[in-house]
Amino acid sequence: MTNSVDPDYPFIRMRRNRQTPWIRRMVQEHRLTVDDLIWPLFVIEGQNKYQDISSMPGVRRWSIDLLVGEVAKAAELGIPAIALFPNTPDERRDDEASEAFNPDNLVCRAVRAIKKEVPDIGVICDVALDPYTSHGHDGLLRGDKIANDETVEALVRQSLNQVEAGCDILAPSDMMDHRIGAIRQALEENDYPDTLIMSYAAKYASAFYGPFRDAVGSSGTLKGDKRTYQMNPANSNEAVREVELDIEEGADLIMVKPGMPYLDIVRRIREEFEMPTFAYQVSGEYAMMMAAAREGWLDRESIMMESLLGFKRAGCDGILTYFAPDAARILKNSPPA
Ligand code: PBG
Repeated sequence: MTNSVDPDYPFIRMRRNRQTPWIRRMVQEHRLTVDDLIWPLFVIEGQNKYQDISSMPGVRRWSIDLLVGEVAKAAELGIPAIALFPNTPDERRDDEASEAFNPDNLVCRAVRAIKKEVPDIGVICDVALDPYTSHGHDGLLRGDKIANDETVEALVRQSLNQVEAGCDILAPSDMMDHRIGAIRQALEENDYPDTLIMSYAAKYASAFYGPFRDAVGSSGTLKGDKRTYQMNPANSNEAVREVELDIEEGADLIMVKPGMPYLDIVRRIREEFEMPTFAYQVSGEYAMMMAAAREGWLDRESIMMESLLGFKRAGCDGILTYFAPDAARILKNSPPA
């Protein structure tokens, strides 16, 4: 047989390696495991209480007593870590984010309850002021400007508050300059040398955070946008600089956010730095997939697993995803809860 386009044909036939399940398994390059999953959870005040979030079907806000049960399920499924986000009652939000420094705030109480009942799962706390500010920004406003250095001082206080409650990993998501260095220094000075920092190092000013802001109750309050601190979605070189700085300042783990529209950034960062690299499949990505699945336009399980595998292929060491427990159940072959 002659073939003018591919002189090696038929000696090379790519489909030989795809013809049966066993050969496909043998040549599979990337795999998703339960060790790759981090589950973000929303916390509310109250007892024996949960609330559905309409823009995130299947995701709930939990009171601490119920939250602990959810975390126990995650631990049983083998999920290594969870990430906590509080929905602070409106009357506890103010211009200075004072509630962030309250040792008995929702997140601190949740961390203590989890550490007591489910000690062997990693607990990640977000560092940013937006769940506590009346204006919904991650930083402190002075006039109409976010004051970087004053905000960093506040973030350091918030960090120490959460670490004292027992949090294992601080995850600054605020994008202020030099916050990683300041937090790392404060941890050393206050005798917390083992606390990990997972930096939201390249976090973009994204429209995909919409449902999250509903979930934590900041969408109604946010004045303006976050473009003076979160990155311009048009930029890629800048992400490399952001990550480099956070590594120099003492971050242990690096994150890119959002996920699916930014997998090129994950790949670049993974290749540039030899650092554990994570990505956040954010609320809007989840909402988008769930909406299509609900319409019957896409198959929920298949797109969930394919999207998570995509993160692995891009070079992620782990993924923050609202699908974490469902994906873990599929990976373990256990029935849905
Ligand atoms: C707040 C924070 C946000 C998310 C995580 N931490 C929202 C924002 O920056 O406005 C988004 C997570 C998601 O959309 O799932 N600092």
